[in-house]
Amino acid sequence: MRRGVLARWAARLPLTARTPALTLGEGDTPLISAPRIARDVGCAELWLKLEGTNPTGSFKDRGMVVAVAKAVEDGARTLICASTGNTSASAAAYAAAIGVECQVVVPDGKVALGKLAQAVACGARVIVLRGNFDAALEAVRARGGGAAVVNSINPYRLEGQKTAAFEVCEALGRVPDGLALPVGNAGNITAYWMGFVQWGPARPRLYGFQAEGAAPIVRGAPVEAPETVATAIRIGKPASWKQAVAARDESGGLIDMVSDAEILAAYRRLACEAGAFCEPASAAPVAGLLKLAQEEPRRFAGQTLVAVLTGHGLKDPETAIARAPPLPAPVEALP
Ligand code: F0G
Repeated sequence: MRRGVLARWAARLPLTARTPALTLGEGDTPLISAPRIARDVGCAELWLKLEGTNPTGSFKDRGMVVAVAKAVEDGARTLICASTGNTSASAAAYAAAIGVECQVVVPDGKVALGKLAQAVACGARVIVLRGNFDAALEAVRARGGGAAVVNSINPYRLEGQKTAAFEVCEALGRVPDGLALPVGNAGNITAYWMGFVQWGPARPRLYGFQAEGAAPIVRGAPVEAPETVATAIRIGKPASWKQAVAARDESGGLIDMVSDAEILAAYRRLACEAGAFCEPASAAPVAGLLKLAQEEPRRFAGQTLVAVLTGHGLKDPETAIARAPPLPAPVEALP
């Protein structure tokens, strides 16, 4: 049974006797082996952490359950967040479950349909703000007052998200040699590093991947008009930029970028060669590992690697369908 992040990791989270026992059954996500892709990465083992199996279909639920529980513990009646989609879906669901208002601010266009549908279905007030995610987050931060901000600038979000690192170590029975993940607003890479540091002295190298058209950390400067098929990480000015760079450097890892073509190739391979249907942003780490292995074939020899598939493929059906061959005409009976 999935007990949920608060119950399972209570001893490692900043909870009090007054923290509401909120859960939608988040966490305890599968770690599955992907031997066919591992061959091309040139590692001994490649494991996929299926974060899309969380209740709202993305890793955001781990941090959101802590942020919402703590906000309500502190008396909040309204939550607010900026989002490329998944944060809004998660905030809307947890707000609904605990009975508080939720406002989500999303950029106009480029939010995957599944994510918007979730926020709307859970009764959130959706505000579509002209501009991109960075503008939306700035607006939410500037607004202040009343509502509790549940973006990853809220430290409780990172507290909850760090539990994924614990689960990886527990499931493998050891700390992996490397862990790869997509980088957008850079909260998740910050949270994983926090988790591994708290787990024990052995540490993995962290490999973060941005999309080429939205790679401010790789390029060393904010990107004014970020663009990528991986809309979840279409972010030009990550809030946790400094922390992500520290995680990269302290772990001896790297933050690199991959093209949309590389992302989509990895997206297809994950579905067709591992049965792991994820959203485009979640394929970025696998695209990145394949790219690094191509540049230096023996780089990962003998290693145990984990790639975090952050969101479910059903989040973004438009991308899946747009890239597939057209459906055949209907037939009267099976041939
Ligand atoms: N993968 C997915 C599926 C995401 O939705 C996000 C972020 C990331 C990766 C990147 O994580 O921001 O912690 O570096 N989505 C946010 C949102 C921005 O609003 O849902 P990060």
